[in-house]
Amino acid sequence: MINYKKDFPLLESGEIAYLDSGATTQKPKQVIEAISNYYGNDNANPHRGAYKLSIRATEVYENARRKVADFINAKRPEEIVFTRNSSESLNLIAYSYGLNNISENDKIVISIMEHHSNLVPWQFVAKKRNAKLEYMYINDEGIIPEEEIMSKIIPGVKIVAITQVSNVLGTINPIKEIVKRAHEVGAIVVVDGAQSVPHMKIDVQDLDVDFLVFSGHKMLAPLGIGVLFAKKELLDKIPPFLFGGDMIEYVYEQETTFAAAPAKFEAGTQNAEGAVGFESAIDYLNNIGMDNVHKYEYKILEYAMKELSKLEFITIYGTKDLEKRAGVISFNLKGIHPHDVASILDSKNVCIRSGNHCAQPLHKYLNLESTCRASFYIYNTMDDVDRLIDGLKKTKEMFNKWI
Ligand code: ALA
Repeated sequence: MINYKKDFPLLESGEIAYLDSGATTQKPKQVIEAISNYYGNDNANPHRGAYKLSIRATEVYENARRKVADFINAKRPEEIVFTRNSSESLNLIAYSYGLNNISENDKIVISIMEHHSNLVPWQFVAKKRNAKLEYMYINDEGIIPEEEIMSKIIPGVKIVAITQVSNVLGTINPIKEIVKRAHEVGAIVVVDGAQSVPHMKIDVQDLDVDFLVFSGHKMLAPLGIGVLFAKKELLDKIPPFLFGGDMIEYVYEQETTFAAAPAKFEAGTQNAEGAVGFESAIDYLNNIGMDNVHKYEYKILEYAMKELSKLEFITIYGTKDLEKRAGVISFNLKGIHPHDVASILDSKNVCIRSGNHCAQPLHKYLNLESTCRASFYIYNTMDDVDRLIDGLKKTKEMFNKWI
C-alpha cells in the first residue's frame, strides 16, 4: 500500500497515529504551499479591484469554484456557494429555503443519526413555522430500514435532510433511493456530505440532490471554507442569508436588489486563501482518484474491524456490512469511560475522538452517554491501526490493575 504520510508535515515523522479525520484532516505540503504561493504572488481582495492583482485574485477564487463544481459534477460553477463550513451551509438552507417554504403542519424529515448541524437548524425552522419535525430511526445494525424510509417520507413532507455518512456509526445512507422517494412525494432533499464527499466519488446530477453541503477541512483543505451546492433554480429563487458587500446589484436608501447567485450568498470579503487551499486539496485527491481513496480506506476499515473484533472487551457500534460503512468506527471498552480511553491512547500518541460527536439524540437512542471514535483517511496505515489496538490492550490492562 502507498504511504501518503510523506506529504503531510504533521505525520511524516510517524510520531502520531492520527485517527480523528472525521473531526478534521491533516494538510499535505501541496496545500500549504498553494496557500503560501497565493499570499506571495496573488493576494488582493477578489471581485473588488480593477487593477491586475485584484483581477488575478478573482481568477484564483473563481477557478477554485470551478474545481469544486467539477469535483461533484455540478452542472455549472454558479451552483457552488462558498461558506465557512457545512454548518453555515445548513443554516443558510434553513433560513433562506426552510423559513420561506415551510408552513404550519408541513413535515420536515431527518434521521436519528444526524450531526447537530443538520438537526438543530430544522428544529428551529419547525418551531418557527409550527411544522412537524420527524425522525427516521435505525435498526440494530445502525441502518435505516427501507420500510422506515417509505413510511416517513410521505405526502406532506416538504424537506428531507439527511447525512450521507454518519459521523458516529459510519453508515452510508442510500441517498439515491431517498431522493427518489422524496421527489415522488414533492419534497426536496438536503444532503449533509461532510463525512462522504471527502471519501467517495459524489455526483450531484446522478444523485439528483437539491442541496449538498460539505467542509474543506475534512478533505485536506484549510479550516474556514465550506460549500453549499444547490440546483440553480433553487439558488435563484431563495433570498440571501447574510447581507453586505458584493452581494448586491443596486442599493438605494430604502431598498436593495441583489446580485445573481452565487454572489448573492457571499457577503463580505471571502476566504480566498481557503478557496486556493481547497482547489489544491481537490487536485491532490484527484491525483489519487476518488475511487482509489475509497478503496484504500476500505482496506484500512476492513483491517481495523477485524482487529477490533478480536478484543472481547470492546463493543463496536454500527453495521458489520462494510459495503454499507465508511471509515468510521465508534466503540466502547466495557466499564471504561471513553475520555479515559482517549487520554491513555493520547499518552501513546494515538489520537481518537471521545464524547458524543455532536450527535446527542443518536447516543440517547442507542442508550449511550458517549463513545470512542476512530476515523480514517488516506494517510493512515495498518501500523496506525496496530498502534490503536495495542493502546486499547494496554488501556484494558491498566484498568484491570486499578479495579
Ligand atoms: N463533525 C466533526 C466530527 O464528527 C467535528 O468530529
